[in-house]
Amino acid sequence: MKLPLAVALGVLLGFGILTSHAQEPVVRDAAVLARQSLMQEAKAALGLLSNMSGHSLRFDKKAARRAKRQLSSTLRRIPRHFDAPHMDDHSRALPRIWQDKAGFDAAAARARRAARAIEPRSLPALRRSLPQAVSACLACHRSYRRPP
Ligand code: HEC
Repeated sequence: MKLPLAVALGVLLGFGILTSHAQEPVVRDAAVLARQSLMQEAKAALGLLSNMSGHSLRFDKKAARRAKRQLSSTLRRIPRHFDAPHMDDHSRALPRIWQDKAGFDAAAARARRAARAIEPRSLPALRRSLPQAVSACLACHRSYRRPP
């Protein structure tokens, strides 16, 4: 009697553990999600400017100005989105960000300056000024983000 009960319990528990494991939701840290969505905003604004610059989207001064403003605003918010070392399994942030927060914030400031220097007044001006901003994104990613 004792043994079958123990076995039954074991099976139940084992099954319980397995199913609860299989159904475990992907645990996402809210602060990580927030900083990743900030980056997605930056990507969307930069994407619009790149598409105009590469002629896959018609140049539109007003839309370019708006995208520039949006890009500057997202870049300004980077430092405080990384103030605390929040992490989860889906983050590609490197620990170096918090070991060298001043260096990280300086990289964000460089990107912000490059975004401010984007010239949305004409297509040739946009094409001349955009590459700097793109390099500033990549420079920070190279130092502070784990490659995929
Ligand atoms: C000062 C550093 C820094 C700058 C500047 C920066 N990024 Fe990031 N970016 C990061 C870090 C760190 C991550 C990884 C965040 C994570 O996974 O927790 C990241 C992640 C991303 C992601 C992936 C987000 C996701 O959904 O997982 C995109 C897209 C992105 N950045 C776009 C950009 C673009 C576009 C720019 C420039 C306009 C830019 N970033 C500028 C540091 C930076």
